Amino acid sequence: MKVTVVGAGAVGATCADNIARKELCSELVLLDIKEGIAEGKAQDMMQTAALLGFDTKIVGSTNDYSKTADSDVVVITSGLPRKPGMTREELIGVNAGIVKSVCENILKYSPDAIIIIISNPMDTMTYLALTSTGLPKNRIIGMGGTLDSSRFKYQLSQHLNCSPADLNAVVVGGHGDTTMIPLIRLATWNSVPVTKFLSAEQQEKIVKDTMVGGATLTALIGTSAWYAPGASGAALVESILRDEKKLFTCCVALDGEYGQKDICLGVPVTIGRNGWEKIVDFELNADEQAAFDKSAAAVRSMNDVLKTL
Ligand code: 2OP
Repeated sequence: MKVTVVGAGAVGATCADNIARKELCSELVLLDIKEGIAEGKAQDMMQTAALLGFDTKIVGSTNDYSKTADSDVVVITSGLPRKPGMTREELIGVNAGIVKSVCENILKYSPDAIIIIISNPMDTMTYLALTSTGLPKNRIIGMGGTLDSSRFKYQLSQHLNCSPADLNAVVVGGHGDTTMIPLIRLATWNSVPVTKFLSAEQQEKIVKDTMVGGATLTALIGTSAWYAPGASGAALVESILRDEKKLFTCCVALDGEYGQKDICLGVPVTIGRNGWEKIVDFELNADEQAAFDKSAAAVRSMNDVLKTL
């Protein structure tokens, strides 16, 4: 198996590091446009192989896409990250051009690849990847909800004083500070509803803190986060290559599910060898559905910006 990660910045490098440590593939290509960065980080990671005991061969490449040939999965992290105070949406103009050209280059050498989009604004970049490549919809997966759901579990675990691994909790909708919808009503702690243990104020705080999870880190660090975004990308690669059919929230093309069409938005999907395989379309309550529709309207207006570029 072969995986390419495009973009050797903090998110791309962390994603690659996770993939290598888990030995998800025999060859891993890290590609970046900046001279030497990908080669350097690839070598640095390879120098951990003896210590960590993995056999994945990591190759760095400065924009030479021929090295990525025959990749089974490609993770796209390229583009500008957020600076403090910036929304993900403000990145659309620059990142759209980058993501479109990366997709074209990738498909020249790996026409059968499954593509995972991490670049922001993630919902619009996923829609752009789908519409500009014309690939079957199952092969384009936006990572956002996987990360947001993991952040939601973190926030819940802080209040419940429990292991995040014991929690089931999903965030649907867009990957934006105001468009994501942490479904606290449905969250469980080993199948017991978390709402049984949390006051209304605590629930409200958890939802709010989850929604601004990325912005909080950007303010603290000075740039976008990378550990959880990178690990989220790697978890999706793992479910694809091992055909695990795990249920993640991912940004995928909707065709009537959750009442929406012609849009990519975060919903629960199974992830396996064919990319995203099945949307789990369950009934939201009236408030959640209204929030989902509002989120769709916001993402749709961002998608409309693509037509003006
Ligand atoms: C985040 O939320 C990078 O969008 C990503 O941190």
